[in-house]
Amino acid sequence: MIRYLTAGESHGKGLTVIIDGIPSNLKIDERELNLILAERQKGYGRGGRQKIESDRAEILSGVRFGKTIGSPISVFIRNNDYENWKSRMSITPINQSVDEFLIPRPGHADLSGGIRFNHRDLRNVLERASARETAARIIAGAICKILLKEFNIEILGYVVNIAGISTNIDKKLDIKDIIKKIKNDKVDLRYPDSKKIPLIIKKIDSAMKKGDTLGGIIKVIAEGVPPGLGDYTQWDRKLDGKIAMALMSLQSIKGVEFGAGFSYANYSGSFVHDAIYYSKNKGYYRKTNNAGGLEGGVTNGNKIIIRAVVKPISTLRKGIDSVNIKTKLKSKTVYERSDVCVVPAVSIIAENLVAIEITNALMEQIGCVELNLMKENYKNYLRHIRKY
Ligand SMILES: Cc1cc2nc3c(=O)[nH]c(=O)nc-3n(C[C@H](O)[C@H](O)[C@H](O)COP(=O)(O)O)c2cc1C
Repeated sequence: MIRYLTAGESHGKGLTVIIDGIPSNLKIDERELNLILAERQKGYGRGGRQKIESDRAEILSGVRFGKTIGSPISVFIRNNDYENWKSRMSITPINQSVDEFLIPRPGHADLSGGIRFNHRDLRNVLERASARETAARIIAGAICKILLKEFNIEILGYVVNIAGISTNIDKKLDIKDIIKKIKNDKVDLRYPDSKKIPLIIKKIDSAMKKGDTLGGIIKVIAEGVPPGLGDYTQWDRKLDGKIAMALMSLQSIKGVEFGAGFSYANYSGSFVHDAIYYSKNKGYYRKTNNAGGLEGGVTNGNKIIIRAVVKPISTLRKGIDSVNIKTKLKSKTVYERSDVCVVPAVSIIAENLVAIEITNALMEQIGCVELNLMKENYKNYLRHIRKY
């Protein structure tokens, strides 16, 4: 079983992630982890923070001579911005007074988190609730993705809608063709429909000028996932439930759907269910994939298809009405350097979070503490599927 925890504040010394349960003898290259971190920082519409931070993952344990040794892997990402926050984020008590963050931002955990932990300086909340934390989470996903590659399982997250400009150009494409399309995109929107990109750029520029923000929809697809991963026997073992939780826990995601998802509401049952066929060559197969690769919490061998909606982020340059928690007077939120559109970044983070859940399901079915033994188990499992 893969377990992971992250720690760290947005402007503290740095972020840490500990990942437990990765089998031994898996090749890990720090450079690969850094590529994922760089990808997370890209995207037209990101704010000034991304220019300050050029994230670098430093593996502290669990890897020796380039291979995992089966021990917990810990990774540290330094916050370069910490130099500017040393006194405000001091670990030890200091003698000078520090400006308190007193006006909670609607759409953030500021007010409810302050109430929960009884913080009077809301910086104590926002420092941890910030999506900066995803820089650590994404590393757990990146390591899982390296493991999944050993089993020919590929996952891709990309953007299918920004500010209502949507595309379904990807519908019949597989991962390698979608990658070609999103790599062509010079502005790092991870959006596969190049014709619509100028319109999206226009929308983002206009939002920037107005001090506004934009949301969208991301899609994550997984190919090569065998049938039988996940479980139907207990509510908290269902793979669709686990993926949905992983994605809903990602800052700014407000809805998740699998396959036909919310559009199921528009059709009758006789139209939407993926009828089962069998041939000697293919084994069991479907002609449609409305289920998005999961039935009853278990993979069915089809491509996993997930979409999630990303809300427009809530730090607006023009401010939103709020209340000062000290004076109780009406106040506008104060603007702190912020992103305008994070949908592309959310897509790459989501890709990696889904990787963690699929890895866990794979480990449950054929898992082993050593990679080569795990591969032997996988061969057996594939044989079982073919014979079934
Ligand atoms: C990669 C990423 C970057 C984000 N950047 C910002 C930002 O600069 N300003 C902001 O107000 N919210 C930003 N958010 C969104 C907030 O973190 C999020 O809305 C907030 O923590 C509340 O969580 P919730 O939206 O899931 O309820 C970002 C989210 C992600 C995933």
